[in-house]
Amino acid sequence: MTNDPSLFKSMYTARALRRFKPDPVPDDVLFQLMDAAIRAPSGQNAQDWRFICVRDQDVKDQMHEWAQTPWLRYQARYTDDPEQIDTLPRSQRLSLRSVEHLVQHFRETPVVVIACGLKGRHSTPGGSIFPAVQNLLLAARGLGLSGSVFNFPLSHKQEFRELLGIPDTNDIFCVLPIGYPSDYHGPVRRKPVKDVVYMNHFGERWDFAESQTEIGWEDKWLSR
Ligand SMILES: Cc1cc2nc3c(=O)[nH]c(=O)nc-3n(C[C@H](O)[C@H](O)[C@H](O)COP(=O)(O)O)c2cc1C
Repeated sequence: MTNDPSLFKSMYTARALRRFKPDPVPDDVLFQLMDAAIRAPSGQNAQDWRFICVRDQDVKDQMHEWAQTPWLRYQARYTDDPEQIDTLPRSQRLSLRSVEHLVQHFRETPVVVIACGLKGRHSTPGGSIFPAVQNLLLAARGLGLSGSVFNFPLSHKQEFRELLGIPDTNDIFCVLPIGYPSDYHGPVRRKPVKDVVYMNHFGERWDFAESQTEIGWEDKWLSR
């Protein structure tokens, strides 16, 4: 286990990479990811998150099948004219192609992590799960792996629940395919701070943010 760029470099470059090499994720690496994930905060420190790490091929095959449903629905927009995808702006096109790749290769994902948590335990339910999910994604980035939230298999939620034996006491929050990426980690492009951060009141501009470049401070971290 090497790699481990700085925390900031990881945050600025943890793109949603959806193409994986066939290399398995060894137990010690998976343990490190999960051990980092559970360092996250949760309401009242309840730690009611439960993670299922799936390597079983039959289970992945089934999830693969279920992942086709939302994709076919989505892709229907382009069925008359599939070339239309190629006319989309570059970032949208590349992102869509990577989703398509994962839909077609989901069953080859080295490990799929499913995040669950107690139903009704928190007033803001996802708030006590997604900090751990982000820790997991940053830990993956730190160790040269990658992953992203990919909820397409949840299109068959009840069957999904039954397949994995998830009790009714738990909600299913997200599905995370994880592996060693065959694409490169790279800058995550977001709306500028000035457009999404206000000062004092909703809608009130923050002068300092207004004076910064549109891409923010990524140059500070990408080269390190
Ligand atoms: C709650 C949540 C649900 C998501 N669901 C999906 C999904 O079902 N399929 C998918 O391909 N990506 C999904 N994503 C990933 C986002 O599309 C991705 O993080 C976003 O486009 C930013 O990508 P980037 O970091 O590569 O710029 C989800 C992300 C979040 C946080």
